[in-house]
Amino acid sequence: MSKKVRKAVFPAAGLGTRFLPATKAQPKEMLPLVDKPLIQYGVEEAIQSGIKNIVVVTGRGKSAIEDHFDVNFELEYILQAKGKKDLLQLVREVSEMIDIAYVRQKEALGLGHAVLRSREIVGHEPFAVVLSDDVIDSEVPCLRQLLDIHDFFGASVVALMEVPKEQISAYGVVDAEPVDHNGAKNRLYRVRNMVEKPNAEDAPSNLAIIGRYILVPEIYQSIEAVEPGAGGEIQLTDALKHLLRNRPIYGYRFEGKRFDAGDKLGFLKATVEFALRRKDLGDSFREYLRNLKI
Ligand code: G1P
Repeated sequence: MSKKVRKAVFPAAGLGTRFLPATKAQPKEMLPLVDKPLIQYGVEEAIQSGIKNIVVVTGRGKSAIEDHFDVNFELEYILQAKGKKDLLQLVREVSEMIDIAYVRQKEALGLGHAVLRSREIVGHEPFAVVLSDDVIDSEVPCLRQLLDIHDFFGASVVALMEVPKEQISAYGVVDAEPVDHNGAKNRLYRVRNMVEKPNAEDAPSNLAIIGRYILVPEIYQSIEAVEPGAGGEIQLTDALKHLLRNRPIYGYRFEGKRFDAGDKLGFLKATVEFALRRKDLGDSFREYLRNLKI
């Protein structure tokens, strides 16, 4: 029996340079998709996957994230006084959602380095990592899909997605062999090797790692063991490759649609699709789009 995954780590100390100037004085994790900040989508996915303990790795200028998941007495008082029950409930739901801990990453030295900062809080148990830039819309939450694989094999699991060759160099890429699982031949992979941000010509496949991971605690030793890699940063992909020497790693081509909301175009696509699906906005927004002369 594999240990239950209870905690999800959200690295959120990055500088958000792809989204300047919006992220100059505001964390990119707080950019709203329709009316919810990016990080809340990831947190809700974790909760819907059965994980209640959230660990956010923050940095300078990220206090809005802490305030968002905290109680706002003043706002609640005013909403109550004005009888705005629906809004009050919305605001309360966010602070009641989770048990949350914060740990600081003083310098943005890479994703691996950020994850290593969670070691004291996570301890010796498997845990999830969620990159809130990657917003995933799916019937079964993506993290839940990975957890099911973890529960079966007791091993680390990364989310995979097929990516066109022209875009592959923006990702961690795996060399992996398919494994039959639950009657499907093209979802589960056993990872043989991986590389962070390869040139398109050197990429071992078109299977990119997407920002959802289930990791065994031994990953912390591997992060400590690796040297800075792509971009001079301590890369999680390099640590996973190190872990592969004595632990199996699985890749799961999840069912669902992923938006790269850390990128301007990806963010716009996510905004449009999420708005179209909203009960309160969808019809009028669709009507508006239809009437645009494009
Ligand atoms: C990170 C990871 C990369 C992964 C990507 C998914 O890169 O390092 O392996 O493919 O997230 O979004 P970043 O987008 O932070 O450069």
